[in-house]
Amino acid sequence: MSSDRAKTAAVLTGAGISAESGLGTFRGAGGLWENEPVQEVATPWGFAKDPMKVWRFYEMRRQAAAKAAPNAGHLALARMEEALGDRFALATQNVDGLHHAAGSRRVLELHGSLWRFRCTRCPHRQQNRIVPLPELPPRCPACGEMLRPDIVWFGEVLPSDVFGAAVEAAERCALFLVVGTSAVVQPAASLARLAAENGALVWEVNPDPTPLTGLCDRSWQAPAGAVMDEVVEEALKAVGR
Ligand code: OAD
Repeated sequence: MSSDRAKTAAVLTGAGISAESGLGTFRGAGGLWENEPVQEVATPWGFAKDPMKVWRFYEMRRQAAAKAAPNAGHLALARMEEALGDRFALATQNVDGLHHAAGSRRVLELHGSLWRFRCTRCPHRQQNRIVPLPELPPRCPACGEMLRPDIVWFGEVLPSDVFGAAVEAAERCALFLVVGTSAVVQPAASLARLAAENGALVWEVNPDPTPLTGLCDRSWQAPAGAVMDEVVEEALKAVGR
């Protein structure tokens, strides 16, 4: 791996990058959290109270994600990884798997994945792409207890290896690119500030301003699908191919 800090780039994506693939974002008018109370479907307490409600919510999201295809924004980031190799890190708050579908190979999934389950009792974990699920809630093949989505819910801690790798990438990069996130959920949003504090340029792609916009050296106020080809070209010029 190159130790030349001037040549590395890190990217943080959020729900906005998948908006043009037809997947709803969380906040704002029409957002997922307008119809689904976060406390009930995205916390460990909500799951303990009504696991079927939570599973139905994730089943709906799995069905939507299974039908979605990556868009120009995801594809541009896959090309960026191809161009930069080890000098590139992609962290996402998304759980939809569309970065992988676009060809990105190393994706730091900060909030987990819709396509992984884990047991609520034993250490069993599984990949699961079966849509629709034949049985809700799904059961652990090892111990028979209920499985849960391998998603980081509010009130839970991010996987330390995944978040640690994202912190490291933010600290050493020369360019930090933020795409399609409202930047209000911690600790993911703090990565951009960390990069800036360590001297990186921070660029943002988002049709709307966010709490990070004031910190950014460049900002594209546009949908990701429309501008990511150009942004990635500019980024490759900035860090060197
Ligand atoms: P949000 O729904 O909070 O924000 C989506 C952002 O995408 C907004 O700032 C929009 O302006 C922007 N946006 C919309 N369309 C866009 C487009 N075509 N191109 C680029 N940007 C666009 O989603 P996140 O920031 O990802 O966590 O939310 C962070 C976390 O909060 C999620 O991972 C989720 C949620 O609660 C969990 O479920 C644990």
